[in-house]
Amino acid sequence: MSHKYQAPKGVSEYFPPRSSLFEYAIEHLKRPALAAGYQLMELPVFEDTEVFSRGVGESTDVVTKEMYTFEDRGGRSLTLRPEGTAGVMRSVIEHGLDRGQLPLKVFYTGPFFRAERPQAGRYRQFFQFGIEAIGIDDPYLDVEVIAVAWHGYRSLGLRNFTLKIGSLGDNESRTSHRNELVKFISGLTLDDETRERSVRNPLRLFDDKRPEIKEKMRSAPVLLNFLNTKSQEHFDEVKRILSSEGITFVVDPTMVRGLDYYTGTTFEFDHADLGAQSGIGGGGRYDGLMETLGGQSLSGIGFGLGVDRIVLAMEAEKVTPNDRNYLDLFVIPLGEAAKSQGFSMVEKMRSAGFVADLAFGERALKGAMKAADQRNARFVLVLGDNEVSSGTAELKRMSDGSTSSVTLASLVDAFRDLSA
Ligand code: HAM
Repeated sequence: MSHKYQAPKGVSEYFPPRSSLFEYAIEHLKRPALAAGYQLMELPVFEDTEVFSRGVGESTDVVTKEMYTFEDRGGRSLTLRPEGTAGVMRSVIEHGLDRGQLPLKVFYTGPFFRAERPQAGRYRQFFQFGIEAIGIDDPYLDVEVIAVAWHGYRSLGLRNFTLKIGSLGDNESRTSHRNELVKFISGLTLDDETRERSVRNPLRLFDDKRPEIKEKMRSAPVLLNFLNTKSQEHFDEVKRILSSEGITFVVDPTMVRGLDYYTGTTFEFDHADLGAQSGIGGGGRYDGLMETLGGQSLSGIGFGLGVDRIVLAMEAEKVTPNDRNYLDLFVIPLGEAAKSQGFSMVEKMRSAGFVADLAFGERALKGAMKAADQRNARFVLVLGDNEVSSGTAELKRMSDGSTSSVTLASLVDAFRDLSA
């Protein structure tokens, strides 16, 4: 069927009943962050373009090819946020949040935008849940951040994922590696575009998906072998603490994150059942970002988790909870008097904390019972003139069809007893 209006190409959208899975995922990802003291940061979805071009980095695909950039009516260049960290940093600097207690621990969730080629699990508008811990450089904090993601995935029932970790080291380590890497790359035969990219950031070549480049890079010097003592000790501590907390990982010596601001610890979570777009989350340290954006020199670490891919992973692992789309009580009124009473009963039930709904409109009994079924109602109450005048009705338990008589005036109490 063709429709006059369609959503823009490559965006993800959620509507019932699947939207409840999306909501469920965010709630569960958020819980371990709240438990660890992270607080909400709600930021604009567009920023001054420079926040991203400088923050995320000119050598990245994100900045060179994927930004939704536009001019506003005042001639300012704005960009729809392709990621969350640079915006958080801009806000922290602007509002002096780095002058309070450190680490500053924040979380955010919402839509992000990258003009990528759409495919399963890769969208132009996608959703992230992210956290950032700013201002303290401590390997225990690295592990806390990783653990928040880990516990979030686990609490959703996900099991088929792996954690990869790496380290990009500090400036000194990166410089000594860079020198060797540039020497190595200068000996390779490369097309102009690839050479150009390697000049801006030689590490990018580790990220190249083309088999011929992969082959060439097989013997390239890897950063992990160039870590200085300080960076090596930090990385060793992260690995030790992860192990002692029972968080399993593999070290990936050539992991290059897609954004330029990373330093030190980096990590990615891969899901086994998702095909090409298997990254369900990633993050790391970004010790120079704040300074790059005009703030003081403070460290930071965080992650962004791809909520769309997490929902796909839950479906692939068949761990979708069956209590979504859930209703404690569905009231079916037959006639006006019954509707008036039924509506007040539903309102009372809701105030008492139950999920209750009414068959609105002039629904025939059969159609209304079908609706109750589809809504996964635990109990159904049919209200006709007899029930209204006697003040009692039959409450039907949908799982086994059994009924019990209840007094309408004390429905909430009766319901509490029944559902206990
Ligand atoms: P990122 O690795 O670019 O990191 O994205 C994080 C996650 O967002 C990915 O692992 C993936 O699950 C999801 N994602 C990215 N692009 C798409 C897309 N086009 N469609 C669907 N999902 C996508 C960042 O964005 C960093 N800001 C993370 C971070 C926070 N690092 C430190 N703090």
